[in-house]
Amino acid sequence: MAASSLQFKTVFRSSSQNFHLSPNKSSKPSLVRCSAASSTSKRNYAITLLPGDGIGPEVTTVAKNVLDLVGSLEGIEFNFREMLLGGAALDVTGVPLPDETLSVAKQSDAILLGAIGGYKWDKNEKHLKPETGLLQLREGLKVFANLRPAIVFPQLMDASTLKREIVEGVDLMVVRELTGGIYFGKPRGFGTDENGEETGYNTEIYAAYEIDRIVRFAFEIARKRHGKLCSVDKANVLEASMLWRRRVIAIAQEYPDIELSHMYVDNASMQLVRYPKQFDTIVTNNIFGDILSDEAAMITGSIGMLPSASVGSSGPGLFEPIHGSAPDIAGQDKANPFATVLSAAMLLKYGLGEDKAAERIEKAVLDTLNRGFRTADIYSAGTKLVGCKQMGEEIMKSVEPQVPAAV
Ligand SMILES: NC(=O)c1ccc[n+]([C@@H]2O[C@H](COP(=O)([O-])OP(=O)(O)OC[C@H]3O[C@@H](n4cnc5c(N)ncnc54)[C@H](O)[C@@H]3O)[C@@H](O)[C@H]2O)c1
Repeated sequence: MAASSLQFKTVFRSSSQNFHLSPNKSSKPSLVRCSAASSTSKRNYAITLLPGDGIGPEVTTVAKNVLDLVGSLEGIEFNFREMLLGGAALDVTGVPLPDETLSVAKQSDAILLGAIGGYKWDKNEKHLKPETGLLQLREGLKVFANLRPAIVFPQLMDASTLKREIVEGVDLMVVRELTGGIYFGKPRGFGTDENGEETGYNTEIYAAYEIDRIVRFAFEIARKRHGKLCSVDKANVLEASMLWRRRVIAIAQEYPDIELSHMYVDNASMQLVRYPKQFDTIVTNNIFGDILSDEAAMITGSIGMLPSASVGSSGPGLFEPIHGSAPDIAGQDKANPFATVLSAAMLLKYGLGEDKAAERIEKAVLDTLNRGFRTADIYSAGTKLVGCKQMGEEIMKSVEPQVPAAV
């Protein structure tokens, strides 16, 4: 276990990294810590649970059980309120993000999300797609910073498609801007060009303040990691990226201790598979971050292992696995619940400041892997193949060995 603990120390760099930016209207928000763990006044948390679609309900059930168990061991009470989002919400209410879901989420201490989407709703009009509900949720919660760690677990080294010597020791963090850029920019839509050809168009646009706050956020994270920040853009072509780079260079003056580099996104995508260990913290815009974080995820072997956290200036954070609803395996008890369980650990650490509880989960995940249990996506010869439910039970046993297997 010593090596395992060490691995997680490098993954979750600081025990006090609860990244909420102060609701400071100036262009210089400062990082503040949620110190709930050190406070005895509040050990009772309202958690909004959004299972969503596909494998979402399967993996969130596991994470909820793990949270409950860890809570009981740490003297924390979680009041879960399950709400509808995505296709599940469309089927019941006709919209992908019901007002009630957003309102309950905003009033809670943290939100744990499974995944949304599925074949059934793929042909829906855009405003009636599950994905629209997720974008509306992120926008409604004003969570502009998305943290995506990509870690190669020593136990899963062979799950990567890359050679062992390339992936061994990879531990990087992608900081993605989440509420701006081309996914939200206007104008957007469909039209017709001067030749009568149908067109589709979107707008990549960033205001300086949007860049400044995510870049400062990333500098702070880099400071708590290995002190290296790589800003990824396309400043050789795109005006929005030119502004991005100018702002990064300006803000870097405040962080002389951080080693800053810039990389064009095409090169970054290549470098990620060529030599991923060169990266510590990456900061980038919404669309580049979307793509690069999935690429970084794949280096680690399975998308089913990686959690994420999205936080804003104030209000609750949103914690979710980076994978989607995996409709191809939904309902078959094949889903890997680790990413959601690790998202629950991020919720404890980054959202609630409950570091000790988070560490219990992190250790339990490593212990479960060490005991050889694997879902199909990370299975290799000589390990024990289990389904989502049994994996959940094994994680529970690792959290608290005395606990009965079935909960
Ligand atoms: N945040 C989200 O909720 C989110 C993110 C991405 C995609 N989606 C949606 O999910 C649906 C499917 O999208 P996709 O297929 O591109 O991506 P996906 O992540 O759902 O699946 C990609 C592949 O990875 C596998 N996979 C994903 N998570 C897994 C897990 N926990 N355990 C084992 N295997 C896992 C799937 O079986 C599939 O083969 C779409 O409707 C998409 O819009 C939602």
